[in-house]
Amino acid sequence: MKVVAIIASPRGMQGNTGRLLEEVLAGARGAGAETETLPLNTLNVRPCLACDACHKTGICGIKDDYEAIKNKLLACDGFILASPNYIFSVTAQMKALFDRCNGLIHCMALEGKYAVVVETSGGGDDEEVLTYMERFINTLGANSVGGIGSPMAGTRIFPDQDQLFTTARVLGQELCQCIKDKRIFTEQAAFHEKFKARMTGLVEFMQDSWLFERDHWAKMDPSEVKHV
Ligand SMILES: Cc1cc2nc3c(=O)[nH]c(=O)nc-3n(C[C@H](O)[C@H](O)[C@H](O)COP(=O)(O)O)c2cc1C
Repeated sequence: MKVVAIIASPRGMQGNTGRLLEEVLAGARGAGAETETLPLNTLNVRPCLACDACHKTGICGIKDDYEAIKNKLLACDGFILASPNYIFSVTAQMKALFDRCNGLIHCMALEGKYAVVVETSGGGDDEEVLTYMERFINTLGANSVGGIGSPMAGTRIFPDQDQLFTTARVLGQELCQCIKDKRIFTEQAAFHEKFKARMTGLVEFMQDSWLFERDHWAKMDPSEVKHV
C-alpha cells in the first residue's frame, strides 16, 4: 500500500506542519503503508499558464516537476496534503500545485483513492484550510478520510501535544484502513456523482478542443456518466 505525502511549507519537513505530518506518517507506516514525502520547497511547481495543454493532451505544457508529482499521485493508493495556514488558505506552493491539477480534476482522475489533510497555524482558523483541502480532494474524485489541524505553541510544539499526536497517528492508521476496506463515504459519493455530471458536461461542450479529456470520458462505462 503506497501513501504519498505532499508538504507545502517553505520550511519543508523542518517546520510545524512537518512535525504534525511526521505523526500521521508514523501512523500510516504502522498500519502497513510504504510512505513517500514530496516537499514542495525542494521541487519546482510553477503556476498554471491556462494554456489548456492538459485538457488537449493530458500532459502539462510547463516543463517542471509537476508531471512527476502527478504520476506519483496516479500510482498511489492514498495521499496526504499538508500545508500551513497562510491567510485563511494553503501556501502559494500548494495552490500552484492545485491549479496545475486542473486536468486531473476534469477527469476526476484520482477516483477510488483516499486522502487525509494536515494543517498548522499561528493562531487558529484551522478548519477553513482543512475544509478547502478536503474539497480539492473531492474534486479529484478521491475520498477524504479526515484531517488534523492545530495552532502552534512554539517551534514544532503544540498545545495538548500528546493528545494531538495520538489523534494524528490514528488518522494515519485510519487512512490505511479505508484503503483496505475501500470504504464508501455516502455524502462524498453523492458529491462525486454530481461533480461527474458537471465535468462530463463541460468536457462534452469543449469536445472539439479538449481531445484528451473527451477520450478519457469516452472510455468510461456509459452507465456511470450522467450528463447535466
Ligand atoms: C505568510 C504567512 C502567512 C500566515 N498566515 C497565517 C494566518 O492567516 N493565520 C494563522 O493563524 N497563522 C498564519 N501564519 C502562521 C503559520 O500558519 C504557522 O506559523 C504555521 O505553523 C507555519 O507552519 P510551518 O512551520 O510548517 O511553515 C502565517 C505565516 C506566514 C509566514
